[in-house]
Amino acid sequence: MINIPTKKLKNGFELPVYGLGLWQVGGRYEPDTSHDKEEIDAIRFALDSGITHIDTAEGYARGHSEELLGQAITGYDRKKLIIATKVSGTNQSYKDLGQSCEASLKRLGVDYIDLYLLHRYPEAGIPIADTMRAMDELVERGLVKNIGVCNLTPRRFAEAQKHTKNKLVCNQVHYNVQYREMEETGVLKYCQENDVMLVAWRPLQKGSLPKSMLLEELARRYKKTVPQVVINWLISQQKVVTLAKTSNIDHLKENLGAVDWSLEPDDVEKIRKDFPDQKLVSDAFALNYKADIKP
Ligand SMILES: NC(=O)c1ccc[n+]([C@@H]2O[C@H](COP(=O)([O-])OP(=O)(O)OC[C@H]3O[C@@H](n4cnc5c(N)ncnc54)[C@H](OP(=O)(O)O)[C@@H]3O)[C@@H](O)[C@H]2O)c1
Repeated sequence: MINIPTKKLKNGFELPVYGLGLWQVGGRYEPDTSHDKEEIDAIRFALDSGITHIDTAEGYARGHSEELLGQAITGYDRKKLIIATKVSGTNQSYKDLGQSCEASLKRLGVDYIDLYLLHRYPEAGIPIADTMRAMDELVERGLVKNIGVCNLTPRRFAEAQKHTKNKLVCNQVHYNVQYREMEETGVLKYCQENDVMLVAWRPLQKGSLPKSMLLEELARRYKKTVPQVVINWLISQQKVVTLAKTSNIDHLKENLGAVDWSLEPDDVEKIRKDFPDQKLVSDAFALNYKADIKP
């Protein structure tokens, strides 16, 4: 069991630098129950290894990912866990959002969610003020401890923040050594300047990062593996924490070997500058600049 270091915001909100993601656990868009036992065992192995931040969504396998997490945490100390889940873009009207949250609580088998996130900006036709009013009510009712967002441009983030009494503690976005939309579009800088946690999803680009002599050289120099360097590059940066999915015990152990040391600042910048084949737009969830709030 390791103690994963944490990062803290001024308001006291704290997240471990590395958490477990549950996308594709229990199915992709539809439930797949054929690996339930292995998936529950893998989550429990992660909890036993020191993972406390676990990330799921109502949209993952239509709620089955939440159900598996609920089963996996049975018997664990609830207070030590940071359970994050998300409301889909289609369910963000005032009325639907409250119902979505209650359904997530039921599937998770808990009476509060630590971090409740907008999975994206509300669909056209749903006013952001209504969405944020519904989020605030969940906090007032004690069903949600903290609120945040995913995949928002800085302007959309600021607009959402304007309509809530609660601090938006994070923006969960696609960011890794190859995918740099968050640098290019100012999301990283915005988070760093506004005391917001940037929770980097897809840190390992699902295991398909291009081969890089630079990463191999750094891995040799630091006596680490390439995935460890890639994860450490994220968490060596101010306000950045990350989440990776793994159901594989060896991968989890490897990834946890990324958290208790730091790349030198010069090496962080070298990767930023020299990593090959960088992409400036996410291949999975590009921030929608065409629909962005106008200045
Ligand atoms: N907010 C959003 O819109 C959004 C979007 C996407 C993802 N997310 C969240 O972020 C989490 C992480 O992103 P992700 O799952 O898309 O991508 P990821 O964590 O970069 O990659 C996961 C894949 O990498 C493999 N892997 C993990 N550790 C490895 C290692 N050390 N060596 C080789 N392969 C390894 C895993 O396979 P094994 O299981 O075999 O290890 C899995 O196939 C998600 O699970 C989800 O919770 C959020």
